[in-house]
Amino acid sequence: MELSGIRVCIHELKVEDAYFFANWGAHQNPLFYDYNYQHHGVMGYRRWFESRNHMFQHYFGIYLEERFIGFIGIKKINPLTKNSELGLVIDPNFTNRGIGLETMGLFLEHYFFKLKMKTMTLKVTKYNKDAIKLYRKLGFRFIGESRTLLEIKTSDLMHPEVQKYAFYLHRDCFGRIWEEVWKMKISKEDFEKRGKNEVSIGSVNH
Ligand SMILES: CC(C)(COP(=O)(O)OP(=O)(O)OC[C@H]1O[C@@H](n2cnc3c(N)ncnc32)[C@H](O)[C@@H]1OP(=O)(O)O)[C@@H](O)C(=O)NCCC(=O)NCCS
Repeated sequence: MELSGIRVCIHELKVEDAYFFANWGAHQNPLFYDYNYQHHGVMGYRRWFESRNHMFQHYFGIYLEERFIGFIGIKKINPLTKNSELGLVIDPNFTNRGIGLETMGLFLEHYFFKLKMKTMTLKVTKYNKDAIKLYRKLGFRFIGESRTLLEIKTSDLMHPEVQKYAFYLHRDCFGRIWEEVWKMKISKEDFEKRGKNEVSIGSVNH
């Protein structure tokens, strides 16, 4: 598969892409440390690459002039219900430039019209305001919420960015921290009604 947009290209991942993580920017907010890939080391990069694709999961690279700047994929692919769950990460050096919107537009078009999938779901932490705004723009709707375990150092809990969203974090009787997560969903019809329009507006303006 190869999808080309105005700036972005999406295609199969190559193992060399994983080594390029060393050049990626770093999130300074401890709530996003899980998206920092640059210190995984050679073995970590290989493991990351090898775990990306299997029968129920398929990931692709996002490229800007051949440079690996993100990855997008679907997991928990269900061929019967024609649903899967989204995964999306952009190099922090390239966020807030419309790359996420352009990527999602290309990918959803392919997903619904070429792969003939019916719906896509995703899970997003409630404090991830940028991601939620992007997903809403595309036509994703809130369908439920849950909590997941947050791996965070006690010292990082005092970080101002973590404190800002402390009301989304909950400590249980074992001292573990749980974060509030939204489940969102989009259908082909939602995308046609809302997302397609947003994507073309974003692309024309920039
Ligand atoms: C969430 C994430 C994928 C968003 O990607 P992104 O490329 O920054 O998203 P965009 O740039 O398309 O949208 C972000 C903002 O940039 C704005 N923007 C800036 N320049 C733009 C341009 N040239 N064209 C269009 N939009 C532009 C958008 O309007 C938008 O602002 P708004 O929300 O106020 O409307 C990215 O921040 C990320 O990878 N985060 C870490 C991993 C993560 O959280 N993944 C999601 C897990 S569920």
